[in-house]
Amino acid sequence: MKTIYFAATSLDGYIADKNNSLEWLFQFGEPEGNVIENFVNSVGVLAMGSTTYMWLYDHLSKSKESWPYKVPSFVFTSKENLPLIDNADIRIVRGDVVPVHQKMSEIANGKTIWIMGGGELAGKFYDANLLDEMQLHVASTTIGGGAPLFPRLTNPPLILESVQQRGTGGVELTYKVPKH
Ligand SMILES: NC(=O)c1ccc[n+]([C@@H]2O[C@H](COP(=O)([O-])OP(=O)(O)OC[C@H]3O[C@@H](n4cnc5c(N)ncnc54)[C@H](OP(=O)(O)O)[C@@H]3O)[C@@H](O)[C@H]2O)c1
Repeated sequence: MKTIYFAATSLDGYIADKNNSLEWLFQFGEPEGNVIENFVNSVGVLAMGSTTYMWLYDHLSKSKESWPYKVPSFVFTSKENLPLIDNADIRIVRGDVVPVHQKMSEIANGKTIWIMGGGELAGKFYDANLLDEMQLHVASTTIGGGAPLFPRLTNPPLILESVQQRGTGGVELTYKVPKH
């Protein structure tokens, strides 16, 4: 069972632009090879911060789409009144990631634990030595600022495990995260 930070990043290291928009990413369309669908199918449980959750909430409200994940989704927030979504298994949590990760491990039952982001939340799992892997989809564009991919100093360095070109607009990098 692995805990993986799986995210798409711009070439200059941002996962959302200054307006929390992902339009810079969506211009490329779905990556070749069912990458996202295959990854999502391997996931047993996932976690995200409230900014990511509210982006999804607003996006789904506008498009009238339903919640895309069948597995329990842990949302970190200090707020008491985050809006919930019908027919979605959303579990509101706060504070230390270690007990939350313990609970997620029990639920995952051998499947992947997906840390969706943002970068600071993924960094908290890294700080606690709980990240096993980073799978990064690097889009061939710079956006000049926004939400950082991973605001941490990685020491020892990450270990590159695979590189896969995705058309002319992307590359998929898989790194093992050494314990530190
Ligand atoms: N490109 C990609 O693959 C990708 C992936 C994920 C996200 N995104 C986008 O990137 C942006 C990420 O935004 P972000 O970096 O601000 O991060 P975020 O992790 O989504 O949200 C951060 C917020 O979560 C809450 N939070 C985080 N850790 C907490 C903890 N331990 N306890 C309690 N609350 C906690 C805090 O807000 P409150 O306490 O005020 O609620 C914090 O301000 C979003 O726009 C998202 O849509 C992109």
